[in-house]
Amino acid sequence: MHKSSRLKEMTLEEIPNITSDMIEKLRKLNINSVYQLAVQSPFELGSEYEDTSLDVSSASTIIASARKILIEHEVLTKEFSTADQMLDKRNKIIRYATGSDRFDTLLDGGFESQSITELVGEFGSGKSQICHMLCIAANKIMETCPHNDAEKSNKPHSTSGNIIFIDTENTFRSERAYQIAEQNGLDPLDVLKTIFHCNVFNSIELESIIDNLDKFIEQYNAKIVIIDSIISLHRAEFSGRGTLAERQQRLGKMLNKLRRLADIYNIAVVITNQVVSYADSSHPGFDYMKAAGGNIVAHGSTYRIFLRKSGKNRVATMEDSPYQPYQRVKFSISENGIQNAISYKTQEERDDSAW
Ligand SMILES: Nc1ncnc2c1ncn2[C@@H]1O[C@H](COP(=O)(O)OP(=O)(O)OP(=O)(O)O)[C@@H](O)[C@H]1O
Ligand SMILES: [Mg+2]
Repeated sequence: MHKSSRLKEMTLEEIPNITSDMIEKLRKLNINSVYQLAVQSPFELGSEYEDTSLDVSSASTIIASARKILIEHEVLTKEFSTADQMLDKRNKIIRYATGSDRFDTLLDGGFESQSITELVGEFGSGKSQICHMLCIAANKIMETCPHNDAEKSNKPHSTSGNIIFIDTENTFRSERAYQIAEQNGLDPLDVLKTIFHCNVFNSIELESIIDNLDKFIEQYNAKIVIIDSIISLHRAEFSGRGTLAERQQRLGKMLNKLRRLADIYNIAVVITNQVVSYADSSHPGFDYMKAAGGNIVAHGSTYRIFLRKSGKNRVATMEDSPYQPYQRVKFSISENGIQNAISYKTQEERDDSAW
């Protein structure tokens, strides 16, 4: 039997050092698999119960045992592993191309699994459109791993993976996903069946969904998780200066969980973020835009792509990446979804190319 299918069948009882008491408590929390246990945080799990059979220390022991099993099955790398072992893990990355090969050069071929990619930009800059496009991208994967010659085929192959779309702004439209799928030669109704959409109306609800996302990823066999947007609800509900620390702590907790999920389930996590404008004292009269959410969001995401409008086109800038350079590309939004920039030049674009 294949290692990973054996892993999926593994029950909590097979985890070393686990007691029946602990299993009962985990089941009450709806934690039923090795994967689900491995993504928990000992502090959160331990604090769910006051008694000593599942305190922080024992929670930490069983989470470590679950992670050890995933290491043995090569889902995770060891605490210390050599860089070539890490490359093996990187070779399992799946890339989701957008339809604009220029845009995809920012990400070496597409949005990566095992990572959180953040799209930041003002209203209308294309964040939600890229999210719609990604729902279709998951249905037409072109490439698996850039570093592994044996598997570097560039042949399209199908995937049974689905998309979880967490929508805090109520801007997902099935019609738009239908249109993009149709324009890209896919069966639109088949594609819509792969998108599991959920509207969220307050920050507590969002936090609870992210807390339980491991179960939803397993239940819906998700390969991409999209959160559009990660910040709007928290920004609206924690607006005063006095609540800033709490807001940041809550955002940090969500991002931390998302990072663990991306890593363990080999999924691509895509979040959108808003901008705040600020005045630069060295250039009076000019307002600049920066990403909302401060350092917590900046450090929490693996890649940060800044989007802005430029006439009929959009400009995407890779602002922060652990291995790609700072670079800028142009793309446009069309009926097809995302595509390379159209060559029409507006005055605004001519101004852009001047700097
Ligand atoms: N079918 C379509 N064909 C061409 N362009 C489209 C289509 N649908 C939407 N657009 C373009 O996408 C823009 C909206 O982009 P999008 O909704 O992604 O913005 P956003 O960055 O998510 O903004 P917000 O911060 O308000 O959520 C529209 O202004 C329009 O220019
Ligand atoms: Mg949007």
